[in-house]
Amino acid sequence: MTLVIDTEHLTKFYGSSRGIVDVDLDVEVGDVFGFLGPNGAGKTTTIRILLDLLRPSSGTATVLGLDARADGVSIRGRVGYLPGEYALYPRLTGAETLRYYANLRGGVDWPYVDTLARRLDFDQARRAGDLSTGNKRKLGLIQAFMHRPELLILDEPTAGLDPLVQREFYAMVDEAHAAGQTIFLSSHVLPEVQRVCSRVGFVREGRLVAVEDVAALGKKAVHHVEIEFAGAAPASEFETLAGVGAVRATDHRLGFTVTGTLDAIVKTAARHEVVAMTSHEPDLEDLFLAYYGEGAADAAAGEGADDAA
Ligand SMILES: Nc1ncnc2c1ncn2[C@@H]1O[C@H](COP(=O)(O)OP(=O)(O)OP(=O)(O)O)[C@@H](O)[C@H]1O
Ligand SMILES: [Mg+2]
Repeated sequence: MTLVIDTEHLTKFYGSSRGIVDVDLDVEVGDVFGFLGPNGAGKTTTIRILLDLLRPSSGTATVLGLDARADGVSIRGRVGYLPGEYALYPRLTGAETLRYYANLRGGVDWPYVDTLARRLDFDQARRAGDLSTGNKRKLGLIQAFMHRPELLILDEPTAGLDPLVQREFYAMVDEAHAAGQTIFLSSHVLPEVQRVCSRVGFVREGRLVAVEDVAALGKKAVHHVEIEFAGAAPASEFETLAGVGAVRATDHRLGFTVTGTLDAIVKTAARHEVVAMTSHEPDLEDLFLAYYGEGAADAAAGEGADDAA
């Protein structure tokens, strides 16, 4: 097993305030690893340490077999990196900015840059200073992908992208994965991680609390389902199904939660005339609770958990 990213007890305090604590990450060659957590969890802190843009308080980080502290320059040369906040030279156009990065790096084939720009619908002629948030993000993505790096580290790559562009980005990730590249991306959106990643690490309050195969997530996921029937809502038929809970019925409508697959509820609903049906993706908190129970959530949330009901 070859580890592309390997951290041990990685810890960062900003003065006395917690950045990350005791993070042990193992990312293997060919992984698409989703680093998932709410605002302030420690995603950017971890990523910046991997690229030696920030020094850890303790612990170690190895990237592509190189020590992050000793070999930061070589690591940054080999990795495609999209920072969470992207600083640009405002007077350069998109094309000039990309040429600048391409010259720094070398080994960039320009037709590929044009292809990426076209796919992301990015106008290279505009000045960086005049770009909208989403368009700056696109420029950052092109810059990260343009040398086909063996490892991509992307800090919230889809933040600010519209749905069409997001979809194109997911396709780029799939292709990079198929080409054998390794991808480490941060996100606070579970469906996105489920869509593109093979593994997911949950970060909470600075700690990596779990790492799971994405394929296993669906089995534990809690869906919120609402069904509107033409006739009276057949609540009793649903209450007895395995995995169904929190059933609420008004004359024609039924709402409930489902743990696991939706197969049994779809088949039960199909015995009646269904007017409308919605199923909401499980959110991060629900999924976390399904995995680790209330106790685990409270423990991970630490002293700040004054809202733990
Ligand atoms: N320069 C800094 N000085 C002091 N505290 C910081 C600094 N940068 C980050 N922190 C703190 O470290 C913790 C982790 O922040 P980090 O930016 O890594 O979170 P994140 O998971 O990337 O969040 P987001 O989803 O909002 O980007 C937060 O509590 C944050 O307030
Ligand atoms: Mg961040």
